[in-house]
Amino acid sequence: MKKIVILTGAGISAESGLGTFRDEGGLWSHHRLEDVATPEGFARDPALVHRFYNARREQAATALPNAAHQALARLQTSWPGEVILITQNVDSLHEAAGAQMVLHMHGNLAGALCGVCDHRWTSPPQMQVGETCPRCSVPAGRPDVVWFGEIPYHMDTIYAHLSKADLFAAIGTSGQVYPAAAFVQQAAFAGAHTVEINLDPSSIVPDFEETRFGPATQTVPVWVKDLLQTI
Ligand code: APR
Repeated sequence: MKKIVILTGAGISAESGLGTFRDEGGLWSHHRLEDVATPEGFARDPALVHRFYNARREQAATALPNAAHQALARLQTSWPGEVILITQNVDSLHEAAGAQMVLHMHGNLAGALCGVCDHRWTSPPQMQVGETCPRCSVPAGRPDVVWFGEIPYHMDTIYAHLSKADLFAAIGTSGQVYPAAAFVQQAAFAGAHTVEINLDPSSIVPDFEETRFGPATQTVPVWVKDLLQTI
């Protein structure tokens, strides 16, 4: 049975009340990403970076999965082949909807990471400057999120999945951040059918064979229903 690989971005969580990055009024219109999403920014002003992620963690803690997250979880349980879910999102709404095996390539707000020994632990709701690592005791705790200039997680696993994909879908992502923006090309090279599902055309829409536009809570359940009817 066909192997499906799905990449999700901030757009899938927008209708759960979590802001996107590059839409009008998005996070990057209120914050300089150089200040809050780079290792250099954290070295300069860790308090500012913790405030930014503490606010996002607080907001994510009360957000609920929407019909798009639920439809993808349903696809994973109902599809007779493999359904690999890769997300750029640092919220846990796929898991809250019941999804299995979510590859968080940009990390997760729920995690803390030691900047010295790479140990990971569960983040407290509010991280403080000088958060102490429970393994090496150095006060070098940071959010376990991948910043600009850092290498995303699970890349070997992701490329292995893309090289065997029969169907690749990108949902709610602007296609402006690499390496995720190049996944469609890797999947197409492997012979996969490619679908973009987004509010409106992304900057890489010409790379896709099929497109479906509209709010994710409407388009994703219909796409999943269409797929399940092909079984
Ligand atoms: N339904 C579907 N798509 C939507 C919706 C919606 N309700 N609302 C917005 N979108 C689309 C937008 O049209 C846009 O193309 O979601 C996309 C969001 O794009 P970005 O804000 O750029 O988010 P994303 O692509 O996930 O960003 C990638 O950039 O800053 C980094 O690390 C951050 O993981 C993030 C990465």
